[in-house]
Amino acid sequence: MVEAILDVRGVSKRFAFNGESVTALTDANLRIEKGEFVCLIGPSGCGKSTLLRMVAGFESVSDGELLMWTKPVTGPGPDRGMVFQDYGLFPWLTVRKNIGFGPVARGRPAKEVRATEERFVEMVGLTRFADAFPHQLSGGMKQRVAIARVLANDAEVVLMDEPFGALDAMTRERLQAELLEIWAKQKLTVLFVTHAIEEAIVLADRVVVMSPGPGRIVADERIDLPRPRDPTSPEFNAMRRHLGGLLAGHH
Ligand SMILES: Nc1ncnc2c1ncn2[C@@H]1O[C@H](COP(=O)(O)OP(=O)(O)O)[C@@H](O)[C@H]1O
Ligand SMILES: [Mg+2]
Repeated sequence: MVEAILDVRGVSKRFAFNGESVTALTDANLRIEKGEFVCLIGPSGCGKSTLLRMVAGFESVSDGELLMWTKPVTGPGPDRGMVFQDYGLFPWLTVRKNIGFGPVARGRPAKEVRATEERFVEMVGLTRFADAFPHQLSGGMKQRVAIARVLANDAEVVLMDEPFGALDAMTRERLQAELLEIWAKQKLTVLFVTHAIEEAIVLADRVVVMSPGPGRIVADERIDLPRPRDPTSPEFNAMRRHLGGLLAGHH
């Protein structure tokens, strides 16, 4: 068996809330191999963000084990980068400096930082805006900066929590295509949360379906359609119906 880059084994998460214990996620099992693009879908409150935050190392697990390359995740690290819906950029830094922030914080030499900034500014198509500040950018451009920032940190795993949810449909489609290009080129492993079935089918190698009350994984479906995927094709539609059924509780 190929070694998993991420191995979630029997993971549960409970939060103390108003003196009571809330189970956000129960007995999650998920193995992800290097280079896979995995989407998590499910309604609000089913534990998608909680699972992502545990992989990021922002939250500890209550039960079970969460391993990256067979070692327990004990906290955040540059090897796992998170991209949020609200971008999370530093408003006082330019595009270039946002992208170079991680390498600077890790004490990389100035010359190397400069080269990294240039490389990733170019990769996300923002060369003309390298010296702009976040407030001067559109939502799609801000999200490109957020992605570039994670890549500049040498992240092997990119964690994305509904990253395109705030964007208009055209921008979202363009960013989906760009993300797939970068994913393939950089051999990234992506764990991508969405509540949109269509987005999951456009992007993923596997779609993991989650359900609330308490949050859990109910299905793990492989999407074996060639890319770029055509949302109007019969195969795409069949998968849309199948995942819709799983979300509606037919599993
Ligand atoms: N810090 C927290 N404290 C208490 N409860 C939380 C906390 N974070 C999440 N929860 C609860 O865990 C459940 C799953 O939340 P979440 O992972 O955010 O779901 P999703 O991202 O799928 O909408 C929800 O019931 C939520 O209220
Ligand atoms: Mg969420």
